[in-house]
Amino acid sequence: MTPVLDIQHLSIDYQSNGRSLHAVDDINFQVHKGHSLALVGESGCGKSTTMLSLLRLLPAEGRIISGKILYGGVDLLQLSEREMREYRWKRIAIVFQGAMNALNPVQRISDQIAEAIMRDPAINRKQALLQVHELMEIVGIPPNRAQQYPHQFSGGMRQRVMIAMALACKPDVLIADEPTTALDVMIQAQILSLLQKLQRDLGLAVVLVTHDLGVVAEVCDDVLVMYGGKVAEAGSVETIFNNPLHPYTQRLLQAFPDINRPMSALASIAGHPPSLDNLPTGCRFEPRCHLRSDICKRQSPLALEHDTGHYVACHHVEIQIAN
Ligand SMILES: Nc1ncnc2c1ncn2[C@@H]1O[C@H](COP(=O)(O)OP(=O)(O)O)[C@@H](O)[C@H]1O
Ligand SMILES: [Mg+2]
Repeated sequence: MTPVLDIQHLSIDYQSNGRSLHAVDDINFQVHKGHSLALVGESGCGKSTTMLSLLRLLPAEGRIISGKILYGGVDLLQLSEREMREYRWKRIAIVFQGAMNALNPVQRISDQIAEAIMRDPAINRKQALLQVHELMEIVGIPPNRAQQYPHQFSGGMRQRVMIAMALACKPDVLIADEPTTALDVMIQAQILSLLQKLQRDLGLAVVLVTHDLGVVAEVCDDVLVMYGGKVAEAGSVETIFNNPLHPYTQRLLQAFPDINRPMSALASIAGHPPSLDNLPTGCRFEPRCHLRSDICKRQSPLALEHDTGHYVACHHVEIQIAN
């Protein structure tokens, strides 16, 4: 199956105090039409950085230093800013992390959604207003609420507004960066099932960013586990849940023994992800890994295909296979 997005050897730095910090290091992954991909990993692993780069919306201090972002065979990194506008929002759209708290407090919901529709310069205000109700219906906001203001909306409803705004230019790929963080569990489930419905009904490719493996199992087809800016493990949701091979994935799963119960995320993983100004030379997970050995200190493991579509970056797994 040809992927709608094919990310190859992507590396991203941030400039900070005259230094280059490697936030994302040589990652590969694919996004398929009508499928959903979960991007998981603790805070600081590079999830948001990776997603922002897909729309070329990194902050000024961020730099894509190598790699390709192929959309339908076109490398988005080679496009002019003007050409990029045909892709951003129209083909790839994002619900930014925390954005539901950044709605304009003095503008009616319908006007904010209309403005998102008018990101497409071919559409005027009158046409946009006609489409607002359709979008509200798609994301499950009752039509009588169009004239209200953000403070009249609950967190879940505000997140629906953000999703409507992301869908406004009919993208093929919808990225949702931690869309359920800060929502209570029942509302989380509603937002996740909305994303699932959109994926099915609109044939969208959905990329769901979360630090919570517990939310992934029901909703997603594929999982990409990131650690310290690298891919630790990737595979189908069944593979990742039934046969996790990377010690980090195993720990993440242990932190969510019951996917139906809310968990304080990652309470049981001791230690912290590496800081970018002091990355380990070998495996980035080595300082926290119970399996670590000499080679892990010296060499960064490559993400190798363990079985079809199942990639693992761990020396320990390689050694097991070799034996
Ligand atoms: N604007 C920035 N300048 C410098 N470092 C940044 C900036 N934004 C993010 N980082 C760093 O990049 C790393 C990845 O961050 P991020 O992509 O936000 O991770 P995640 O979304 O997985 O929590 C973190 O170490 C973070 O501190
Ligand atoms: Mg983030």
